[in-house]
Amino acid sequence: MDRISNLQDELLCHVLSFLTIKEAALTSVLAKRWRNLFAYVPNLVLDDSVFLHPEEGKRERDGVLESFMDFTDRVLALQGDSPIKKLTLIVKSGVDSVRVNRWIRNVLQRGVSELALFIDLGDEYRLPPELFVSKTLVVLIVAHRYDLDWHVLGISLPMLKDLYLTSVGFCVDQFDTLLPACPALKTLVSRMNWKNSNVTVSSATLEDLIIFSSERVVNPNSISFDTPSVVYFVYYDLVAEDYPKVNLTNLVKAKLDLVLSEYQIERIRAANIDLLEDDVFLRFGNVWKLISGIRNVRLLTLSSDTLEVLSFCCESMPVFNNLKILHIKSSESRGWQAMPVLLKNCPHLVTLVLQGLLHHVTDKCGDACDCISREDKGRSLISCPVKKLQIKRFQGTIKEISMVKHFLDYFPCLKKMEIYREENCPTNVEVLESLELMMKLYSCDVQYMDKK
Ligand SMILES: *[C@@H]1O[C@H](CO)[C@@H](O)[C@H](O)[C@H]1NC(C)=O
Ligand SMILES: *[C@@H]1O[C@H](CO)[C@@H](O)[C@H](O)[C@H]1NC(C)=O
Repeated sequence: MDRISNLQDELLCHVLSFLTIKEAALTSVLAKRWRNLFAYVPNLVLDDSVFLHPEEGKRERDGVLESFMDFTDRVLALQGDSPIKKLTLIVKSGVDSVRVNRWIRNVLQRGVSELALFIDLGDEYRLPPELFVSKTLVVLIVAHRYDLDWHVLGISLPMLKDLYLTSVGFCVDQFDTLLPACPALKTLVSRMNWKNSNVTVSSATLEDLIIFSSERVVNPNSISFDTPSVVYFVYYDLVAEDYPKVNLTNLVKAKLDLVLSEYQIERIRAANIDLLEDDVFLRFGNVWKLISGIRNVRLLTLSSDTLEVLSFCCESMPVFNNLKILHIKSSESRGWQAMPVLLKNCPHLVTLVLQGLLHHVTDKCGDACDCISREDKGRSLISCPVKKLQIKRFQGTIKEISMVKHFLDYFPCLKKMEIYREENCPTNVEVLESLELMMKLYSCDVQYMDKK
């Protein structure tokens, strides 16, 4: 005890800040000096589930929630107006929302710079408006099950660098209000329900932009990204009908996951036959604007749906002059129609990763694969400078083996091929023998191994 007590106060505070509030409070019972120090713990974690041990059914017991709230009130009272760096608040229904907002205001007044709020207090709950006018907040994490009512006038978060919004309902024009109010924002991670149909994400400072919009049922009208400083971009949403402005000039790494419904896939495949004038799919061709906007990217990952959408813009596919690594996910129900033009337009590609080889065969199936025998077979591969091919989720079928052979035959610069076997992939003797033969016949280094 004495040895510990002789530690520098600052160090003790640091140690305390790693404990949950309850542990820290128990520890502080031990010595008066510790109790005083406890008032200066710079990082608070207030988690009702740790406090309440819900696995024991304590949450429902009378008085337990009350004692959590009293305890939190006491801790904050003990800390007075000493500065605080970080608060993590995790509360669920039953905790009084008025007190929750009082705790948030308390730390805001004390100049908190990092706030992580995991609040699940039902539909009626609203965050305190003071949250949106902080001169000290640098990191803000909000996870909430319901819509956030952010029609707060005069949002101003001049220091905010990292904003994480999870499971948050977002209203019309909120990016328009929010982003100009965060002039220092570097990271925006939003995993939420975008309701608005026309979205513009505009920020000169953003470097990491990660957007998951998972609850849409209707394709959005238009999405714009005017974010020239973004280097890392992840985008998951239904395909928009238009991408009027895409400025992602400094992009280094991107993952596109545009989502199509089965119905839309069917319509796309029937497109040449009977497309109606007012068909939304006519406008999916505008996706070339998005693709063109990301053409400076060095590392690109595409989902199988995205590849299918790209079949709409084969004629307007940009040249990806900086692209070194291309990662494509395949699915048995999605086509490779855009693969040839994509490979042709990556003149400096070094590594190609194919996560799955099996794909939907169409009568227009590209010459990247050997699904359909044709005279100009392999044409798009011959001009592709790729040196390393990684094949993941290999399922050990004869079809895949013939594709492997096709790649070995037609990629002229291929030095290394790594084939990762899918878990529980059957060991077909014929497949293994073909692979062994290829390892002997080709100068390319072919390796067959278990899933990474
Ligand atoms: C979105 O923009 C389109 C035109 O680009 C317009 O027709 C439509 O009404 C807008 N929708 C909303 C909800 O503002
Ligand atoms: C992207 O934004 C930068 C900075 O505002 C600007 O200089 C550049 O011209 C824009 N590019 C496009 C294609 O709009």
